[in-house]
Amino acid sequence: MSLTLEAFAKVNRSLLVLGRRHDGFHELRTLFETIDLSDVLTFEEAPELSLASSAGDLSVGEDNLVLRAARVLLAASGAERGARIHLEKRIPWGAGLGGGSADAAATLLGLRALWGLDTPDGVLHDLAAGLGSDVPFFLVGGRAVGEGRGERLTALPDPAGPEWIVLLSPPFGLPTPAVFARLGLTPGQATTNLPGSDSEPFPDRNDLEQAAESLRGELRILRSAISSAGATSARLSGSGSSVFGVFASRESALQGAANLGEVPEGTRIRVVPTIARRDFQARAFPGDEERR
Ligand code: C5P
Repeated sequence: MSLTLEAFAKVNRSLLVLGRRHDGFHELRTLFETIDLSDVLTFEEAPELSLASSAGDLSVGEDNLVLRAARVLLAASGAERGARIHLEKRIPWGAGLGGGSADAAATLLGLRALWGLDTPDGVLHDLAAGLGSDVPFFLVGGRAVGEGRGERLTALPDPAGPEWIVLLSPPFGLPTPAVFARLGLTPGQATTNLPGSDSEPFPDRNDLEQAAESLRGELRILRSAISSAGATSARLSGSGSSVFGVFASRESALQGAANLGEVPEGTRIRVVPTIARRDFQARAFPGDEERR
């Protein structure tokens, strides 16, 4: 039997850093949203666990989150199974789009189905949180609030229709730890950032932006380009390096992308809709009809 599924990327519509914790992580409040950009994973039953990828420069060793996800699922379920996994990489990595995390979540879901395991959703969530702060979001999709490290999730209802994202991915990635470290917070230190309010729970803000832009000045140019092109919100996603603008319609997004003016050489421009949870679930989760 084999199974193919899509692992969708996210953007952070709002990201508030509330402080640094004693465990070294930062306390966050973020609004995640799924976008229509995905990796494709294929799982086939095999005696051993192995991973191959379409991206030659991506490590497919034991450090890859896909194999790590497979290993923790095996350990938690006590199963002794194998699979041949193929990863078609389309989401840029080191880009603040959660590509590696999305692959990890898809692996948990895909292998649970392929191997017919009865691992409960709650256990899958805990395994996901152990793999990375934003992995649990990719089990849920759509629009959701992440608190704590980002792993404590509250799913939000689907909006009436999609919004359109102009996604700008520069030809370099940014290491998440370096961006957080640049905030310069000491363990236990709270920020003076406003935490959001009842009337504006998700301010149009990303508290990692300045830190990322001080590491790579090109990011400021990208954000100002998409803002000038008419985006209603122009933000860094996560800790970067992707920058995105939000538009109400496909037409205005295409227009915005055409009006960008000069962007740093090698920047990849994509126009994609946001994806509601019901569509995410229909497209991302392995259903019986997808099993071959
Ligand atoms: O959880 P994840 O493995 O994605 O985190 C990678 C790194 O990003 C952490 O080791 C930490 O340096 C930083 N991070 C953080 N606070 C968070 C999430 C990530 O400081 N809430």
